[in-house]
Amino acid sequence: MSYVLGFLGDCALVTWLSLPLLLANMLPVVLGGGRPMDFGWCAGDGRRLLGDGKTWQGFFGGVFFGVLTTWTLAMLALTPGGMPSLYRIWEIDDFQFIRHMGWLALGALLGDLTKSLIKRRIGFDRGQPWFLVDQFDAVAGAFLLSWMFDRQWFTGNFIASRGPALMFMLLVYLVGHQILSRWAHANHLKLVPH
Ligand code: CTP
Ligand code: MG
Repeated sequence: MSYVLGFLGDCALVTWLSLPLLLANMLPVVLGGGRPMDFGWCAGDGRRLLGDGKTWQGFFGGVFFGVLTTWTLAMLALTPGGMPSLYRIWEIDDFQFIRHMGWLALGALLGDLTKSLIKRRIGFDRGQPWFLVDQFDAVAGAFLLSWMFDRQWFTGNFIASRGPALMFMLLVYLVGHQILSRWAHANHLKLVPH
């Protein structure tokens, strides 16, 4: 019984901590627009460096609001009575929390950029599906950056004895990503439903 409860607790924690990654990956769909990150430049192969699907607004908006939303939810959840208490802003713990979330959100969007860079080199047009890579680019980037720059926190929370919970989180992420992508496509926010 205690094993089951421990496992469920781990699942909840790991999924909760990965929220900035999902948000950073999905928010650009609504926040994006304006100047593309590659300024319209082409690489030597004559194809766009990244393409019109990667904009500055989407990138920084995704990182900023991904972290801000997670932190706001954390404040709401952590304060007794469910009310946010603004004095918490000055507690070092909040800055640490924001730092941890920041690496995940930044990593998610750098992973997304790297994927687009590779897609353009291979010859995939903007929005053309690349099975599994489109789904897991953000997770891979977020985990890599967090592991590189925030290793103690990353291994402590995502790796140490949490293998099964990590699998659960990846499943939740995949389903969440699919639902949000289809919703965004149905509402004309996204060109393709993946
Ligand atoms: N987006 C953005 N800026 C980013 C990332 C995404 O503006 N840095 C927006 C774009 O409107 C993009 C949408 O979010 O079309 C969905 O992102 P994604 O699926 O990653 O881009 P695609 O258009 O599918 O392009 P790619 O083939 O390069 O993945
Ligand atoms: Mg895509």
